[in-house]
Amino acid sequence: MDLIEAAKAVRENAHAPYSDFKVGAAIRAASGRVYLGVNVENVAYPEGTCAEAGAIAAMVAAGETEIREVAVIAGSPMPVTPCGGCRQKLKEFGAAEVQVHMATMDGKVEVTTIGDLLPGGFSRDYMS
Ligand code: THU
Repeated sequence: MDLIEAAKAVRENAHAPYSDFKVGAAIRAASGRVYLGVNVENVAYPEGTCAEAGAIAAMVAAGETEIREVAVIAGSPMPVTPCGGCRQKLKEFGAAEVQVHMATMDGKVEVTTIGDLLPGGFSRDYMS
């Protein structure tokens, strides 16, 4: 399954009446299964959640904890990058070299890695 296409399809279901900025995310986990998420906004604005967080929650709920590849897409002029909080969430389940494909609705794509998105990020090593 093409991850960007999967993210693009699920993006239609985003609940973004306040920002009018729909985001879709797709995560391929270790099993090969793909988990999807969208941003879900709330009238109490801070209660909204990001598409990446939704996809991670779906993956964990299905019993998986290892991210192998990520795609995120939005109707932005340039490929959308995960917010700071989502970078930390991705790091929890994905190795530094895991690729993150960032896409626009008109076909622009950039690729980065979880490690490059969060250099110096907090990890469990600090807690040992
Ligand atoms: N958003 C995401 O879902 N993922 C991102 O990577 C960037 C931002 C959402 C949060 C909010 O619902 C809307 O986009 C505008 O910030």
